[in-house]
Amino acid sequence: MAEKFATVQSATGLAEGRKMLEFRKSLPAYKEKDAILTAISQNQVVIISGETGCGKTTQIPQFILESEIESVQGAGCSIICTQPRRISAMSVSERVASERGEQLGECVGYKVRLEGIRGRDTRLLFCTTGILLRRMLVDRNLRGITHVIVDEIHERGMNEDFLLIVLKDLLPHRPELRLILMSATLDAELFSSYFGGAPILRIPGFTYPVQTHFLENILEMTGYKLTLHNQIDDYGQEKVWRTSKQAPGKRKSQIASSVEEALRAADFKEYSPQTRESLSCWNPDCIGFNLIEYLLCNICENERPGAVLVFMTGWDDICSLKDKLLSHPILGDPSQVLLLTCHGSMASSEQRLIFDEPNDGARKIVLATNIAETSITINDVVFVLDCGKAKETSYDALNNTPCLLPSWISKVSAQQRRGRAGRVQPGECYHLYPRCVYEAFAEYQLPEILRTPLQSLCLQIKSLKLGSISEFLSRALQSPELLAVQNAIDYLKIIGALDKNENLTVLGQYLTMLPLEPKLGKMLILGAIFNCLDPILTVVCGLSVRDPFLTPMDKRDLAEAAKSQFSRDYSDHLALVRAYEGWKDAEIDFAGYDYCWKNFLSIQSMKAIDTLRNEFFSLLKDAGLVDSNTATCNAWSHEEHLIRAIICYGLYPGLSSVVHNEKSFSLKTMEDGQVLLYSNSVNARESKIPYPWLVFNEKIKVNAVFLRDSTAISDSVLLLFGGSISKGDIDGHLKMLGGYLEFFMEPDIAETYQSLRRELDELIQTKLLNPRMDIHAYHE
Ligand code: CDP
Ligand code: MG
Repeated sequence: MAEKFATVQSATGLAEGRKMLEFRKSLPAYKEKDAILTAISQNQVVIISGETGCGKTTQIPQFILESEIESVQGAGCSIICTQPRRISAMSVSERVASERGEQLGECVGYKVRLEGIRGRDTRLLFCTTGILLRRMLVDRNLRGITHVIVDEIHERGMNEDFLLIVLKDLLPHRPELRLILMSATLDAELFSSYFGGAPILRIPGFTYPVQTHFLENILEMTGYKLTLHNQIDDYGQEKVWRTSKQAPGKRKSQIASSVEEALRAADFKEYSPQTRESLSCWNPDCIGFNLIEYLLCNICENERPGAVLVFMTGWDDICSLKDKLLSHPILGDPSQVLLLTCHGSMASSEQRLIFDEPNDGARKIVLATNIAETSITINDVVFVLDCGKAKETSYDALNNTPCLLPSWISKVSAQQRRGRAGRVQPGECYHLYPRCVYEAFAEYQLPEILRTPLQSLCLQIKSLKLGSISEFLSRALQSPELLAVQNAIDYLKIIGALDKNENLTVLGQYLTMLPLEPKLGKMLILGAIFNCLDPILTVVCGLSVRDPFLTPMDKRDLAEAAKSQFSRDYSDHLALVRAYEGWKDAEIDFAGYDYCWKNFLSIQSMKAIDTLRNEFFSLLKDAGLVDSNTATCNAWSHEEHLIRAIICYGLYPGLSSVVHNEKSFSLKTMEDGQVLLYSNSVNARESKIPYPWLVFNEKIKVNAVFLRDSTAISDSVLLLFGGSISKGDIDGHLKMLGGYLEFFMEPDIAETYQSLRRELDELIQTKLLNPRMDIHAYHE
């Protein structure tokens, strides 16, 4: 019986394998297999571009693997393929293993931050770009690696651009190493000339024609006409958009009026590319929800079969739209519609559903971020809706402020989105903006290195001993502004990671060992030094995962009230510690889920914090900063003042002053003037804050500058724990703080602070240099 069962199983396995092979052979990349392998054998660097879905990511690493295994000397091949996102590294490795009929961890493995599966025989490793950079910290020459494939380079992520500089330097030292750059649409010549004229292979793709509709065409379908009118008003003549009714109907008129509203707000008038700024006023989500619902409903009721892919601006829009659609009689009916979401932080179980076929007769609708543009291919898409925006981080170097703003996508992205509709048959794409807006899009998106703060990058450059930061960055594909580089270097000096001469300090060296933003790493290190580890681990991990405090749109007040019960002393960070500890207690009675539900906490985030805490604890142990005895590490963990001081130590110079007026208070930072708190901060609910300062984790410019997660601190904590700890800089630093404090300090008080500060700095330095030293003993 057992034998018979085994035969049946292997027969299905065989059939599956054959089907998989047929599928692989049908991919456009397969037809180019020989050309690709020849080019790689003859050139050290090869650039490969091809339509999304043509088989670059899943096939090309396999071609190399197979040909190396076949060749006699190839037994020792070791291929690394980098992905910009965790989710793609994980899903692709799983896919490739199953195409090969293997388990993950045999020939094919993956490694992302804090997670991975690989075995002794793993020859092909998918990892995030960050992981490869980290590996280069300890192994500059990538010994043993035969092929490096850098995927999705068209995205121009910071890590990828950085990696390319390092690899370019490495190539002459490792003549046998092969570098393969892969991308969907790209300015392939730019990369080719960067690598001295490396050959470009283009995989010819085939896509079916896609019918394109812009907003004006869509409105016409709804019975409205969108036209540009001459309007004479008090200020003279101007052109305005207007919708005119052709066939009224309740739902349709609702759409038309919201479209008109959005157009009015966007103030398009006579639109020309020179006035691109006015684009930023146009809010597609304003019209989006009604219009998207209308279009989806129309597709479900009247169109041929095929999945629908909706490109939304960000995760929050996806959630709100999903909520709205779920209450719709057709779109919310699971027997008619399989409604899925696709974004960077989803779980892999959720991810797999995207590739599945829906039940008979149901239509698959996927609400996605720009991740579905090129990294993830959903096979059966026939209809695409594109809202035209994506959330992207940008960086305002003048004010040294990172911004997370919905920005218009580029023309190339819009074309990518459109292309998703024509993979299996002729498709349709609905762009939810007028054609003239599209015409004004930039051709390509700005590379990340030109639009984000560079602190972690600079630290990495130093730890890899790559010389002067600005000299190194001047060799990038496109170099960042000098001011942005200088800001990052200044920041690293202020926090004490670099010394005056831009060399890594001991603290800086520790920071490069922790896969964390420098400020969080610094906090963690001090938490370990001061035996106050538990709460600081929770704070650091809480800040590294998705915000555990949920604020559903319709229950904002309740959620904020729930959060404020955890608040006792003007600190979001301490509120987080309390919420986490409450959850741990509830878990003992198996009541963790109820606890999260009642308190508007994300159970996923709580679990993620739990996992991360263990991981970071091990990293600290490896770095020699803690020993296994958790009791010692936590000897001072109940000291709230100390926790506050350590938070300040990490977050400085993220500092704002609290200015009290009669009824409430306002906040100011040096760079931005007046700033505001996010409404879900516990401090936003207070009318007074009995402290002169707030340290904050993050400030983001949306329309005003907002602070996220803050903790109130006193003058003395700021004086003792704010700023650099490197020896010699203390006086200068205190002078700067003194100026900042705007209060007159008696000379003898200043003297006392200076000597206290010096003592504290020496203590920390000594501990960093002798991590095994017992700080209690020193303190005696
Ligand atoms: O990298 P590129 O965009 O060129 O394509 P790919 O990711 O290698 O995907 C090739 C084909 O495999 C596509 O048609 C995907 O839909 C399919 N695929 C899949 O079915 N399941 C996965 N987990 C990954 C890819
Ligand atoms: Mg790919």
